[in-house]
Amino acid sequence: MTGGGRAAVAGLGLAAATLAACPRERPGWAERPFEAEVVLADGTVLELPTLEAGRRSYLRHCYGCHGLDGDGQGPVAAGLRPPPRDLRRAVFKFGGVTRQALLTDDDLARIVRDGLAGTAMLGRDLPDAEVGALVAFVKTFPAPPCDRARRGAGTCRAEAEAHPEGAPNRWRARREEGSLSGQARFPVGEPIAAPEDPWRGREGDARERGKLLYHARAGCDACHPAYVTRAEYAALSIQSEGAPKSSYRDDMYRPAVRPAADNEFGVDVAPPDFTRDRLRSVRDDRELDDLYVRIAAGVGGGLMPSWLESAELAVRPGETPSELIYALAHYVSSLCELRGTEGADALWRDLAAQP
Ligand code: HEC
Ligand code: HEC
Repeated sequence: MTGGGRAAVAGLGLAAATLAACPRERPGWAERPFEAEVVLADGTVLELPTLEAGRRSYLRHCYGCHGLDGDGQGPVAAGLRPPPRDLRRAVFKFGGVTRQALLTDDDLARIVRDGLAGTAMLGRDLPDAEVGALVAFVKTFPAPPCDRARRGAGTCRAEAEAHPEGAPNRWRARREEGSLSGQARFPVGEPIAAPEDPWRGREGDARERGKLLYHARAGCDACHPAYVTRAEYAALSIQSEGAPKSSYRDDMYRPAVRPAADNEFGVDVAPPDFTRDRLRSVRDDRELDDLYVRIAAGVGGGLMPSWLESAELAVRPGETPSELIYALAHYVSSLCELRGTEGADALWRDLAAQP
């Protein structure tokens, strides 16, 4: 009798532990078949068969990391750095659009196909129709529950009643709020296409110009490392601005981490050191074009400004934006070329040995 009681208690403990580890009372978003089409803020209709195909593909290829609810907490997500994206929030890093607005379907398709180099997310060679269906499905994830601290209990209660699944996400905002405001707040950006490279045949000049912009006018080294000696650094700023920079970062040869509190991903993010780190959104077979788009578009979620629209890089008489951005792209590419070579070791040895 007593023994049976203990076993029952032990059993209860196990049940409680299982429940605590897995407090799922309802099926996840990706487990529930769609019953109707979904209409997005811009009026796009996502058809039922497409959504269902996307949902099934997501369960095969994505949920392990991004989770059944798209919250980035799938069964294999624990400990991944960077962590998988919380897809409910519709905040992205590697869109190729102006003003860091919501990214396009083509951006999402590119990310699914190519993956993100240097992260857990590998590229996938899937048929076009399946990629399109995945993109459609990804856009249906509900946003996280209302933030009471920021928006007030009243707003949250009203939202919860209107949307039992959670507040609408950035794609679905307008239609579900019954007004135009959602789309006005979260427009899909204009795609940035890489123009013709104006430096073709003059790559050496482009690199020199890029080096100057990088360390002086554009100030890329506010976040990424500097790659020149302090003497050369002063010379570059005199050449660019007519005076040496009055202050450098103490740790100018290391990336300056963008702290969790200052970005939208809730984790510290280190900008890459181009001589060491793989770039996420830049493919070797179209490196310069990809670098152009990345530098022009920036990195979303508060990580890196768009240089197409920055005040620092505002064109001066006789310059064009593509000339400036391609010069930076050529310079960054020359740093990436050093990765894994004796050249990188030599560069860092020289910088460490300077007075
Ligand atoms: C092995 C884990 C893993 C799998 C599987 C995976 N992802 Fe990811 N995904 C990640 C990680 C990690 C990131 C964040 C990378 C970063 O922040 O640099 C990410 C980021 C993303 C992003 C955001 C990109 C941006 O620009 O911000 C999208 C969209 C995405 N994944 C979609 C998908 C889809 C769709 C699938 C299935 C085809 C998938 N992922 C499968 C790990 C994974
Ligand atoms: C305010 C800080 C900041 C400044 C200034 C900045 N960056 Fe970045 N940059 C970042 C961060 C953070 C990332 C990393 C994003 C990630 O991987 O999560 C990044 C990533 C990159 C990438 C790699 C993108 C990829 O696909 O992995 C390139 C290329 C880049 N920056 C170029 C530049 C250039 C060129 C400049 C100057 C014109 C510049 N950055 C200025 C913060 C900055």
